[in-house]
Amino acid sequence: MKQKVRKAVFPAAGLGTRFLPATKAIPKEMLALVDKPIIQYGVEEALAAGIEEIIIVTARGKSAIEDHFDTSFELEASLEKKGKGELLDLVRQVSAMGRLAYVRQSEARGLGHAVLQAKDLVGDEPFAVLLPDDVIDAETPCIHQMVEAYNDVQASILATMVVEGPAISAYGVLDGKPVDGKPKLFEVSGMVEKPKLEEAPSKNAIIGRYILTPAIFAKLETIEPGAGGELQLTDGIKALLGEESVYGFSFDGVRHDAGDKQGMLQAMVDFTLKRDDLGPKFREYLKGLSL
Ligand code: G1P
Repeated sequence: MKQKVRKAVFPAAGLGTRFLPATKAIPKEMLALVDKPIIQYGVEEALAAGIEEIIIVTARGKSAIEDHFDTSFELEASLEKKGKGELLDLVRQVSAMGRLAYVRQSEARGLGHAVLQAKDLVGDEPFAVLLPDDVIDAETPCIHQMVEAYNDVQASILATMVVEGPAISAYGVLDGKPVDGKPKLFEVSGMVEKPKLEEAPSKNAIIGRYILTPAIFAKLETIEPGAGGELQLTDGIKALLGEESVYGFSFDGVRHDAGDKQGMLQAMVDFTLKRDDLGPKFREYLKGLSL
């Protein structure tokens, strides 16, 4: 029986150490890319793909995320009183963003453990996972492209991108082969989390968008700590191989690692230049820099 992808899990419990000191008291998912917290880009992407329920895995110190997607009565009343209609619309759009559910990860035990916390909320159906750090700029939202691929193959799908050189060691890396007649898909035969360059099975890095079958939960319950001493999602998916097909998916779009300072700066420039309200002036500013 064909099942629809209706739910998306957003692991947002990480400590955000790559962005200290900014993330000491502010969740990294709430860092603004131009004027929107990075997690909102992911939530909008999921909703644009027809996903109906957003499940956010949070932790201590992350309550700003819940506040962000909640109604802000005082702010709305104040904007209304001042006649700031446009801003009021912006604020209301955020709190009207569909069904959101939260579950807490009480210990930082890794991405696999974070996803496992969503087991009861997801239930027995395929679901998407979006890592908020990875902001993907694409004409058709990346997760929408993947939902379509899922509807075709009915199996787990991992977004993948070619990463050159030693930078590959920051990723999960796929081994596998192309699929005849489906140029965007790659049949996965193995994967390694954060390999050394010489041990990487390919240049195909996993990017933070996944469609997973519910069989993943049983695997996440049994895996041992892996890279970095953490329960890795990659190891859970690897345990699925042999029982189910798993595919890599080369998405169309540009991925920014907004959880990293350099990546965030680049995303900031790209996104600002694309904005009608900010782009032209910012372009002039950049042109005037004597670099
Ligand atoms: C996580 C995953 C890794 C993946 C990466 C993509 O790593 O564990 O497999 O390649 O996201 O951004 P993290 O960046 O959380 O260390």
